[in-house]
Amino acid sequence: NTGAARFLPERLDLDALRKAAARCEGCDLYRDATRTVFGEGPRQAAFMLVGEQPGDQEDRQGHPFVGPAGRVLDRGLQEAGIARDSVYLTNAVKHFSFTPRGKRRIHQKPTAAEIDACRPWLDAELAVVRPRVVVVLGATAARALLGREFRVTRHRGEPVPLGDALAVATVHPSAVLRAPDREDAYEGFLADLRAAAGAA
Ligand code: URA
Ligand code: SF4
Repeated sequence: NTGAARFLPERLDLDALRKAAARCEGCDLYRDATRTVFGEGPRQAAFMLVGEQPGDQEDRQGHPFVGPAGRVLDRGLQEAGIARDSVYLTNAVKHFSFTPRGKRRIHQKPTAAEIDACRPWLDAELAVVRPRVVVVLGATAARALLGREFRVTRHRGEPVPLGDALAVATVHPSAVLRAPDREDAYEGFLADLRAAAGAA
């Protein structure tokens, strides 16, 4: 297990990447998860949204952000005026990480080593899609894209350069669902999405 790099296809296009990622064994997460959940969206989307990793529903269905966090995200995008067809959705880590508890599978944060192992897929997606704005959803995506010194709490909603794009970080939509004051957390999340919309 030395990371995803040796599984990358020669030709960088989204179909080739998706196919190759389906067979990735770049870290141990492929062993227990059902499948690779690759990014989805138009090839030249203006916005790329990067989450943490697929959750239970995403692992079952094979698509990013189709569970509870996805519903928060959908509502936010709509209210921020970001059209679904201008968005490419993906995750920093492409396999679901969990610990079994009875019949349930409890989400586990990916480790720094897993984030690094999976990073070639995210880099390839960025190189193909070339979004104008990258919305960084939570600390894991921030670790992958903005480095480990970056603090979402301090710099959320601020456009920062990321290659040819601008990155705007915000909290993860799952954190909105877990917040003691959900509406307040959602309003903050929405404000950051509006900042991202404005940065395009
Ligand atoms: N959380 C994520 O970070 N990504 C998903 O795809 C679903 C939940
Ligand atoms: Fe490969 Fe990423 Fe899955 Fe690890 S999490 S096996 S690096 S696709």
